[in-house]
Amino acid sequence: MTESTPVPVSSNSLAGRTVLVTGAASGLGLGIARGLLQAGANCILADIDDKGLDSIAPEFKERGLAAKMNVTDEASVQAAFAAGVARFGRLDGLVCAAGVAPAYPLEDTPLDKWRFALDINLTGYFLCGREATRIFKKQGGGGAMVLLSSKSGLEPSKNNSAYNATKAGELHLARGWALELGPAGIRVNCIAPGNVFEGSKIWNPAYIAEAARKKGIKPEEVIPHYIAMTALKRDIKPQDIANAAVFLLSDAARCMTGQVLVVDGGQAYTR
Ligand SMILES: NC(=O)c1ccc[n+]([C@@H]2O[C@H](COP(=O)([O-])OP(=O)(O)OC[C@H]3O[C@@H](n4cnc5c(N)ncnc54)[C@H](O)[C@@H]3O)[C@@H](O)[C@H]2O)c1
Repeated sequence: MTESTPVPVSSNSLAGRTVLVTGAASGLGLGIARGLLQAGANCILADIDDKGLDSIAPEFKERGLAAKMNVTDEASVQAAFAAGVARFGRLDGLVCAAGVAPAYPLEDTPLDKWRFALDINLTGYFLCGREATRIFKKQGGGGAMVLLSSKSGLEPSKNNSAYNATKAGELHLARGWALELGPAGIRVNCIAPGNVFEGSKIWNPAYIAEAARKKGIKPEEVIPHYIAMTALKRDIKPQDIANAAVFLLSDAARCMTGQVLVVDGGQAYTR
């Protein structure tokens, strides 16, 4: 048996459920949406990148709806949720994955980039979590949310203040919501992925160059370097993160709320 290629969790555990995924046009959001589709869910594919959505929506066929959404805009968030509920009849889950990582040394961090990260990574999660909660409660309770945090929310990354702060903030958002929403049967958990390169636009050439600079290595050495930092020496794939999301959204996790699943190949807490 090889363990170097991820396989989907073998179940139909989300059959008939409807989940809205933000950041669905790229990277982890898209990988998670594909995992939810494999698990039987209907997917409301939400992203600000409508061209990206148009290119991926056909693979979801009748179980996908492309809904343009700017997670920082209240009206846009409400409209995308409403379109999804109108299409599929209800909402059972939310995955917040739309996120950005403007990486700078502290003294060089522009204020607008700091605010940009807080707006998308925190306000965006807040607006989507609030809208999902309103819909869940209107339906009579129940529902599950998964917030994509990061290993950087547990252990800070160098030269990445806004990302570190927002990713740690998401963990505590989830814990507070778990406490508040538990009585309504709404579960809220986080995933803290390690570095996932496949399909990610965060890992663009400029970001890789900055990572190379802070590590004192060449850009082409960055990905092998990060893989070597995991205890398992394994390249984490979007499917690995999708598997965690499917589990957390499913009834198999019915007694889990306010928790963090770390999917980092053994990096945080292992050194
Ligand atoms: N890739 C990694 O190594 C990694 C590791 C840990 C956590 N994460 C988290 O996973 C999430 C996704 O990261 P990724 O690497 O897939 O990034 P990505 O850039 O590939 O995808 C992010 C998506 O979010 C969308 N988006 C950006 N601003 C938006 C807005 N205002 N409204 C709606 N959509 C918007 C983008 O259009 C894009 O499709 C982020 O929250 C990130 O913090 C990523």
